[in-house]
Amino acid sequence: MIKKAIILSGGMGTRMSPITKAVNKQLLPIYDKPLIYYPLSILMLAKIKDVLIIVNKGQLNQYKKLLPDGKNLGINIVYKEQSYPKGLPDAFLLGEKFINKSNVALILGDNFFYGQSLSNTLKNCINIKNGAKVILHKVSKPELFGVAKIKNKNKIVSIKEKPKKFFSDLAITGLYFFDKNVVKYAKELKPSKRGELEITDLLNKYRKKNKLSAEFIGRGGAWLDTGSIEDFYNTSAFVSNIEKRQGLKIACLEEIALNNKWIGKKDILNSIKFYGNCEYSNYLKKISL
Ligand code: TTP
Repeated sequence: MIKKAIILSGGMGTRMSPITKAVNKQLLPIYDKPLIYYPLSILMLAKIKDVLIIVNKGQLNQYKKLLPDGKNLGINIVYKEQSYPKGLPDAFLLGEKFINKSNVALILGDNFFYGQSLSNTLKNCINIKNGAKVILHKVSKPELFGVAKIKNKNKIVSIKEKPKKFFSDLAITGLYFFDKNVVKYAKELKPSKRGELEITDLLNKYRKKNKLSAEFIGRGGAWLDTGSIEDFYNTSAFVSNIEKRQGLKIACLEEIALNNKWIGKKDILNSIKFYGNCEYSNYLKKISL
């Protein structure tokens, strides 16, 4: 059972410069809330209450203004600074103390997931005892992603990073689940040619031991990674369309916490005070009636 997770929320956001020169990408809006709300909502839907958020050096205060310690959501949020982007597996080196020999999930701060079967998929993922699990999603341009080949429905037999020739169209998304060996394996990694620790190398350690498996979001679900301005715009439009049509919010953290029975109506009133007079608060008023 996985009870802890890390959100990797640093990065340079180079593709979105100059917007990201002074503000971290994950604090920028996807329609009506900051990007970081979306990956955090996924962890909360997976019933994970212990969260480490890794941020860039010097950006801690900005994050703490938005998400101080998680108490208002009935969860526990702690922070760690990353001095510069050393690669995704650095999360496990920075998070060693936080992980403290338990199984752990990792989600990238700029990944957006949405879909009906998501909660079930997450349930399967947090149940892992041994090995590692990744979430795969079919994409039309596999040459832009890390992709995986599978056997027997969910065993991953090989992985390739941005293959020039067609190899598989199942992209490896930014949500991963690992057993407690992940820290040991991350420590064994060497930086690649581009000078970063690579998640592919870490996943390959599990694959070589026949311990890497896959879950799927399925065609009814969406996975978008928000790395470019165009992605931000498209994802914002997606959220806006769904929210307007359904009258429900995607990634309303307080609503998930309330549904999980982690907080009560009094806490929602406190959040309304915290946010002030805005549309998000109006939604919170509605769900607390
Ligand atoms: P990337 O897409 O590798 O980088 P980025 O988001 O900063 O964008 P760009 O390529 O335009 O510079 O990162 C994916 C996610 O992981 C993103 O949410 C930032 C985060 N990240 C870290 O927090 N630390 C790291 O060392 C790396 C490599 C990424």
